[in-house]
Amino acid sequence: MSTKSETASFLSHRAGQIEASITMAITAMAKQLKRDGKNVISMSAGEPDFDTPEFIKQAGIDAIQAGKTKYTAAAGLPELKSAIAQKIKRDVDVDYTDAQIVVSCGAKHSIFNALYAIINDGDEVIIPSPYWVSYPSQVALLGGRSVFIETTDEAQFKITPAQLKAAITDRTKVLILNSPSNPTGMVYSREELSALAKVIVEHQILVISDEIYGQLVYEGTHESIASLGDEIKDLTILVNGASKAYSMTGWRIGYTAAPTEIATVMSRLQSHSTSNPMTIAQWASLAAFEGDDSEVATMRASFDERRIRMTDGLNAIPNVTCQRPQGAFYAFPNIAACIGKSHQGKVINSSVDFCQALLESQLLACVPGSGFGADHNLRFSYAASIADIDAALERLAAFVKELT
Ligand SMILES: Cc1ncc(COP(=O)(O)O)c(C=O)c1O
Repeated sequence: MSTKSETASFLSHRAGQIEASITMAITAMAKQLKRDGKNVISMSAGEPDFDTPEFIKQAGIDAIQAGKTKYTAAAGLPELKSAIAQKIKRDVDVDYTDAQIVVSCGAKHSIFNALYAIINDGDEVIIPSPYWVSYPSQVALLGGRSVFIETTDEAQFKITPAQLKAAITDRTKVLILNSPSNPTGMVYSREELSALAKVIVEHQILVISDEIYGQLVYEGTHESIASLGDEIKDLTILVNGASKAYSMTGWRIGYTAAPTEIATVMSRLQSHSTSNPMTIAQWASLAAFEGDDSEVATMRASFDERRIRMTDGLNAIPNVTCQRPQGAFYAFPNIAACIGKSHQGKVINSSVDFCQALLESQLLACVPGSGFGADHNLRFSYAASIADIDAALERLAAFVKELT
């Protein structure tokens, strides 16, 4: 007798369609080479290379010692929600009540819950491309349909109001805007956001504003689209968290600030899925958000120096061009001029081919742009030491020189 697993999959249609990221293959290869004792330089990290600041770690330790180790309210500690509302006011000048804040297990979870709260089957979600890898996968998991707006290096990977307008249909539910951007590092100005907000308000769609890199801006200032007036604020789900600015990726604290109806549903959803985010991490995040941000400023200054080093270095390599990122900690060079060339007899047809050959021959790991919807680009994280950045640039230059 055949078992069910031999004849049919137990997987749901939605879960079954989610594919492993192709970037995983490169990461796995880099790890194997490291295990084999090879001197691999990795520029693929999606997190700061700094430790979590001491006073934040101490707040976590204090919480454990004080026995603050039980459930909290599903949407987060009242003290933390209040500190988040104050932080949003301080950072981007938008007023939220505590009831509009939901604390989740990282910003990724916040975005998932936000999409869960608003997406019906077949709803369209507009995603500017290049995009952060998880957006389309989350949309697909929830039965929505991603509609991509293509951008170019020349346009600094930003969408225009006309492009947004053209992408909106009567099925459009929400735009996902990510500024500063992973992977491009681009930052929308207040004027650019204002022009997009006009279209959003006119067509009455929602916007998920992913501002997880908001405190890591090196040119200009970080602006939240929610700060552009009550009409757009009422259509915005603002996402942020502790992960990037406070070097707390492993603590898993993210949050949303949203219209009360959406926040209430997200809170209910969370109460039936994960319950509260980890209690000790919430107390540590409270210390982070109530702190004076001096350590954030130190990290920012360091990222800024590395950003210039990385971008200048990339632009000095023939056949590689790179827009200067204004925020986050990624450079997203264009390698279109290298596609179609050969490396040691092997044709480089894609960003994955490029990354694979680069890793094999120069022991340098970066992320192929195809995972972000841009097959002519690579993502280099500059959350790495200056020595590693210099060595990475040397290895990349040597590799590109060998292309024929
Ligand atoms: C654009 C963007 N949004 C959200 C996240 C998720 O952050 P968290 O680690 O808090 O879940 C990341 C993390 O890489 C990101 O790059």
